[in-house]
Amino acid sequence: MVILPLMATVPPLRDPLSTPFTPGYGALPRVFAGREPEFRDLEVMAARTRAGIYEQARRVQGIRGIGKTVLLGEYEQWASDSGLWVTSLTVAPGAGFVGRLVGELGRTIAAHSPTDRTVRRVLAVLRFLTAVGLRYGGEAWHLEYRGRPVTPDAARTTGDTQEDLRRLLVDAALLARDRGTGLVLLLDEAQNADTAELAPLLYALQDAQKHVLTERDTASGRTLRSSPPLAVVLAGLPNLPDAIARAAATFMSRSRPIELGPLPESAVRKALPEFTRPHGVDWDGFALDRIVELIDGYPYFFTSTASTPGPPATGR
Ligand SMILES: Nc1ncnc2c1ncn2[C@@H]1O[C@H](COP(=O)(O)OP(=O)(O)O)[C@@H](O)[C@H]1O
Ligand SMILES: [Mg+2]
Repeated sequence: MVILPLMATVPPLRDPLSTPFTPGYGALPRVFAGREPEFRDLEVMAARTRAGIYEQARRVQGIRGIGKTVLLGEYEQWASDSGLWVTSLTVAPGAGFVGRLVGELGRTIAAHSPTDRTVRRVLAVLRFLTAVGLRYGGEAWHLEYRGRPVTPDAARTTGDTQEDLRRLLVDAALLARDRGTGLVLLLDEAQNADTAELAPLLYALQDAQKHVLTERDTASGRTLRSSPPLAVVLAGLPNLPDAIARAAATFMSRSRPIELGPLPESAVRKALPEFTRPHGVDWDGFALDRIVELIDGYPYFFTSTASTPGPPATGR
């Protein structure tokens, strides 16, 4: 057979140290395959919200292993690199998540260490945020800003979760706007969210996005309207729409689905050699045809992670 001599020249792919394949969920793959139209839509959404233009929240939907978490991860990386403020959270089944979300939001704001000019405003928002967080996290709730614990300001809270969350989201987005950027909120595994918690959050999100800011343009004297720079992405299994509809029916009509299906064949064909090549493995036409056919667009089947040890630097 012709295959035997060929195999002798190919390093063993399944060596535990050098194999690029690490099936699993959520790890950022070394090569991100396909998803260009979906990614472009998310980029445009962030750019538009950053410019003060209202954009519907996005719902990334698809079966397990289809690449939702990976898409969110790539997007988070892109958004951070673009100077956007990103708050992201994965919802675990059964556990409360709004307290954690508020905490993450606080850390996002604190981490972007605003200039001295804005410190008072940042502190005011963080005190409010901490007071809201305490309602969810009890004694455990703790946030630091510039190395000092933030004292909660209960006076600003209304006692109404939805309204408090709405104010927080608008405040946070406006702080980002002061810094010339916007806020991106990512919620993965959102189908796990408890309806009682998801409902006030979704209403708060849509109300915060609808919030109208007015400014007078000094040159023309006209009143200019804009939206807070707040981009929202929820991701979840195909039952996500049901979970959303149960919690906040209007959020369904005000959010736009991104259905993730199998990767196009061309994307698999392009990505596969890209991530095995650094390991000294290439694919000939027949092998590539066969593996592309076997993978059938399911990204889980050609998983490689950034944490996999790379190829030896020399000696190959
Ligand atoms: N676009 C992609 N390019 C390369 N690998 C991907 C891609 N999408 C997913 N994968 C791989 O498939 C695995 C499962 O993807 P994941 O995002 O965790 O699925 P989901 O969140 O939809 O359950 C990931 O660990 C990743 O390595
Ligand atoms: Mg996932």
